[in-house]
Amino acid sequence: MSDAEGTEGRGRILVTGGAGFIGSHTIVDLVENGFEPVIVDDFSNSDRGVVEGLAAICGRPVSCYEIDCGDEDALRRVFESAGPIDGVIHFAASKAVGESQQKPLLYYRNNLGGLMSLLQVMGEFGTRDLVFSSSCTVYGQPESLPVTEETPRAEPASVYGATKRICEDILTDVVASGAPHRVTLLRYFNPIGAHPSALIGELPLGDPQNLVPIILQSAAGIRGPIQIFGDDWATPDGTCIRDYIHVLDLAAAHVRSLDWMAEQDETPLVEVFNVGTGRGTSVQEALDAFERASGRSIAREVGPRRPGDIEQIFASCDKVERVLGWKAVRTVEEAMRDAWRWQERLGSR
Ligand code: UD1
Repeated sequence: MSDAEGTEGRGRILVTGGAGFIGSHTIVDLVENGFEPVIVDDFSNSDRGVVEGLAAICGRPVSCYEIDCGDEDALRRVFESAGPIDGVIHFAASKAVGESQQKPLLYYRNNLGGLMSLLQVMGEFGTRDLVFSSSCTVYGQPESLPVTEETPRAEPASVYGATKRICEDILTDVVASGAPHRVTLLRYFNPIGAHPSALIGELPLGDPQNLVPIILQSAAGIRGPIQIFGDDWATPDGTCIRDYIHVLDLAAAHVRSLDWMAEQDETPLVEVFNVGTGRGTSVQEALDAFERASGRSIAREVGPRRPGDIEQIFASCDKVERVLGWKAVRTVEEAMRDAWRWQERLGSR
């Protein structure tokens, strides 16, 4: 599937996993900022309808190639036929923590193999700039908060976490070898929300594992009360604390990273940034924000702690603000409102 026509504008950007949750919102931001995105997605954890939603939001079709990013030959063909690729945003990866423990080989193959194929082909075609999706999971439970980029990474608590750490190391080693790449490693905190049009949003295939999709299904009557995973943590209300960031703010950090890399004289280059809001929100506060935003009440039950959960984490965003000039501007409540609008459109799905 391809629609490689269109103006080059500020540059053609390959977006692996571009039909996924964060990827699709980043496509919108790229188009709004004059870039020409090219989606690569194998639709293993995304829906083809997303590409139509994107066309409706952007007012024109977005190029899309259905391939597995680990398939080097297929990737090479995309680089040959899409037109010159000026930069890459690499989202494509398997991301379910529980599943990664059951299927470690799949996770290592997809997440490491995909990145290595991409770097190989980028090298062949002389594509220099790459934004990589990493995760705050690399910090584990930090000793002091907020976490800065200097906070040491912890031993990974899951295979998924290990793949993010190893991918960061692969990129750092490739850059250290003198390969002419410029790389930003974005460590995401907890992305939530949806595009306000409700044409794209988070579409978990199967049973959702993350808090907000579970809240949405509970509010929509698809599932019963929310189980709060422990209220005996050492936090003000006893529930875990996370840094929830609106997916549109997160998307903007990718576009800003591309601009920043283009401005740098230095090559090779690798730079890591936390991408969060800098504010911690407890599970109870997240539920309260949802109730205010949606006008729905959520039945809550306190259950046992979830194995492997960490008590609290939130970002220091000083570096990303100072260096990239990027800052999250949306509130958790706005994110909940947009997420709920998306769920209302999905209905009982
Ligand atoms: C999880 C992953 C993390 C990954 C991130 C991606 C684990 C241990 N960690 O993080 O590696 O990068 O998703 O978004 O799975 N909660 C409830 N009830 C629920 C669901 C969640 O109380 O039914 C609580 C959790 O205890 C947690 C918070 O909600 O405190 C957020 O949970 P979740 O959305 O799963 O994200 P993380 O745990 O931060």
